[in-house]
Amino acid sequence: MAKNISFTLKYWKQNGPKDEGRFDTREMKNIPDDTSFLEMLDILNEELISEGSEPFVFDHDCREGICGMCSLYINGHPHGPATGATTCQLYMRRFNDGDVITVEPWRSAAYPVIKDCMV
Ligand code: FES
Repeated sequence: MAKNISFTLKYWKQNGPKDEGRFDTREMKNIPDDTSFLEMLDILNEELISEGSEPFVFDHDCREGICGMCSLYINGHPHGPATGATTCQLYMRRFNDGDVITVEPWRSAAYPVIKDCMV
């Protein structure tokens, strides 16, 4: 049975490769733990858009663990804490109520940041 968790989300905002970038922070409340990580980011964006703010930009495509586009660094690990799984196959049940979750782009000179976590 799913339970809801609340946590602090720190997500990387960057306006192009020359911008130095920064973290924005939001308290995410009552997110069902059977929500996928990308669905949680969709919820974040629904909140941001409803407030008239710019959405958080991140890469994704298939959301089925096939294409590899969902390349995020989560709490310092590629694709987060679930080894052998892509970000789109990561579910919020991997996190605990009260956690601080940090989302950053894959940092590589070969893949400059286009916007936020899109490289
Ligand atoms: S979006 Fe395709 S593997 Fe995650």
